[in-house]
Amino acid sequence: MYPAIVAIDGPAASGKSTVGYGLARALDFLFFDTGSLYRAVTWAVLDGGILLGNEPEIGQLAGEIWIEIQPPQPAPQDGRHATVLVDGQDVTWQIRAPEVDRAVSTVSAYAEVRSAMTDRQRQIARRYGSGQAERPGIVLVGRDIGTVVMPEAPLKLYIEATAAVRAQRRHQELCEQGKEVAYAQVLADIERRDRIDSERTHSPLRPAADAVRIDSSERTAAETLAAALAALRTVLAA
Ligand code: DC
Repeated sequence: MYPAIVAIDGPAASGKSTVGYGLARALDFLFFDTGSLYRAVTWAVLDGGILLGNEPEIGQLAGEIWIEIQPPQPAPQDGRHATVLVDGQDVTWQIRAPEVDRAVSTVSAYAEVRSAMTDRQRQIARRYGSGQAERPGIVLVGRDIGTVVMPEAPLKLYIEATAAVRAQRRHQELCEQGKEVAYAQVLADIERRDRIDSERTHSPLRPAADAVRIDSSERTAAETLAAALAALRTVLAA
């Protein structure tokens, strides 16, 4: 399968990262959660005290910031799928904070931010997708991978689930991390992010015309992965 690229898109908490990580492990591909780039920019905006409405300054920052995504080293003891560095600082967990959750849709809707991050994603995808890097391919997970970043990917998946199910999952994750947040608040945040991600002018969230759509609402993680592997087999057999 060349280019050896799997593109996975879907809304927040749809299960796309879990299925993407599972596919990457099954294929020995690099797992690349592209949302972490937008989260890293957002973290830098908040850390620098830049106002969220200041699009020119945020656009400039996105062009200058150095973000590195590394496989977790040594072994992933704390559950991370990758290590995220911003100008050399490890921000892997900071970029998952609720403040970043709330601000990331606004930052990622800015055209200059998108163009800088899209360039970065394509560089990484082309390097791994050509089969000439340390891994034989790459799985990219995001919102616009199949439509904008890598429309040439031979396998495109769109993972969806109802807002209520996604909010339940996110709520449970937060509870397990000892964070007390009301379910209604989590649901409202998810619905707000869905709205911004799918109504924005630049690269709105939507399935590519040729994406295989998988609804994870009533599937376990293992069943969703099995559906993704079945889609992969169909592409390989074609
Ligand atoms: O998948 P996530 O929740 O970590 O994504 C964080 C935000 O980044 C999300 O609100 C939309 C944005 N994003 C994007 O616009 N394009 C991508 N390829 C990945 C994420």
